[in-house]
Amino acid sequence: MVVRDEYFCGILEELIQESRLLMSKEFIQHGCTSVYAHSVQVAYESYLYAKRKNLKVDYRQLIRGALLHDYFLYDWHNQLTPHHLHGFFHPGIALRNASEDLVLTAIERDIIRRHMFPLTIIPPRYTESWIVCWIDKCCSMRETIFRRKASRMSVS
Ligand SMILES: [Fe+2]
Ligand SMILES: [Fe+2]
Repeated sequence: MVVRDEYFCGILEELIQESRLLMSKEFIQHGCTSVYAHSVQVAYESYLYAKRKNLKVDYRQLIRGALLHDYFLYDWHNQLTPHHLHGFFHPGIALRNASEDLVLTAIERDIIRRHMFPLTIIPPRYTESWIVCWIDKCCSMRETIFRRKASRMSVS
């Protein structure tokens, strides 16, 4: 993915300076996609979607919340806990990590905490959170399908 938007890149670079976001390059999300690449993809697509639809949202908080939505900072494939429990617990872990490094707004906190809805029961509260919740699922599905196709091609 090539990110060409100056406003988006400015927020991304600022967040990289203030947080441990680059650490997420070391961890795989789905297939061969790192958590970092996944987070940038979700943030950029959420931002482009909101712009395209002319939605009344705060772009800065939308981008920051999306960049931090998977800020759990561990390899969930190598955990002793079953994978499905990662789905339940990682939003809370991501929020705790992000709160250690940054002062978060209510919207940014909600984006991180509620992005796994409906797996986690309480729905998002803000439009920004609903956008990230939806775009995250689209990106995750694409990464998983791409991985399946790639592994089928490597077998044959
Ligand atoms: Fe997540
Ligand atoms: Fe995600």
